[in-house]
Amino acid sequence: MIAFHRVGLEYPRTGTKALYNVSLEVKKGEFVYVVGHSGAGKSTLLALILRRLLPTQGAVYFAGQNLKLLRGDQVALHRRRIGMVFQDHRLLSDMTVEENLAFVLRVQGIPSREWPERIATALRRVGLAHKKRAFPEELSVGEAQRVAIARALLLDPPVILADEPTGNLDLDNALQVLDILKAAHQRGATVVVATHSRELPEAYPARVVVLKAGQVVRDERPGEGGSIRVRESPDRGGKEEA
Ligand SMILES: Nc1ncnc2c1ncn2[C@@H]1O[C@H](COP(=O)(O)OP(=O)(O)OP(=O)(O)O)[C@@H](O)[C@H]1O
Ligand SMILES: [Mg+2]
Repeated sequence: MIAFHRVGLEYPRTGTKALYNVSLEVKKGEFVYVVGHSGAGKSTLLALILRRLLPTQGAVYFAGQNLKLLRGDQVALHRRRIGMVFQDHRLLSDMTVEENLAFVLRVQGIPSREWPERIATALRRVGLAHKKRAFPEELSVGEAQRVAIARALLLDPPVILADEPTGNLDLDNALQVLDILKAAHQRGATVVVATHSRELPEAYPARVVVLKAGQVVRDERPGEGGSIRVRESPDRGGKEEA
């Protein structure tokens, strides 16, 4: 579904090398945690999948397509296949919950007769059907984040990317958010979650990819005897973590 072939990413303005030689394959229907310290490259990796960034080395493939070769409106179509969730909900403050969701459907050109059903389904999935007339500031942080997930799920995207979706939440709310992502996974979505949280992989065990200073240093699936360790290149001077 998603494949990184020896991907390097250097931010042009600052010359920061955020990823080195990352090779990674995420199969359709997989659930993957991407973990690593601040600055390890997690958000950069997600931005490459969204094609917000193009690799400076190597290539990123999505459903067999090299993302670098997408043109104009193909980029918009590509992003439509991805539901993106951020740490902060990024809801529009002057719109109610249902207006926030309708806004996405309008932008995506979904016929308005389909909106009520789609909005109702999305809110039901996150347990917030009763909040559709609330404004974002009238929601708790956890509720606002669940609305943001409802928004990401509106078009039933085959892939969901979440960047620290529980970063601002206490454990109870974090586990609610995880449950929603888990349900989407069980309906067949491919899910990639960047997180600092140790609790999420404990609560819902899945593959864990560890990034360190821009490199994949570990990649393990639950139940596997040994983990796949990837040696860091010597010029980074890094050591493997136990
Ligand atoms: N737009 C940018 N321009 C230049 N450098 C950037 C940019 N965004 C990130 N970086 C740098 O790239 C590296 C990786 O950053 P990234 O945001 O991917 O890390 P992260 O793992 O998501 O960290 P965090 O856990 O803090 O969110 C860091 O050194 C960061 O300073
Ligand atoms: Mg980040």
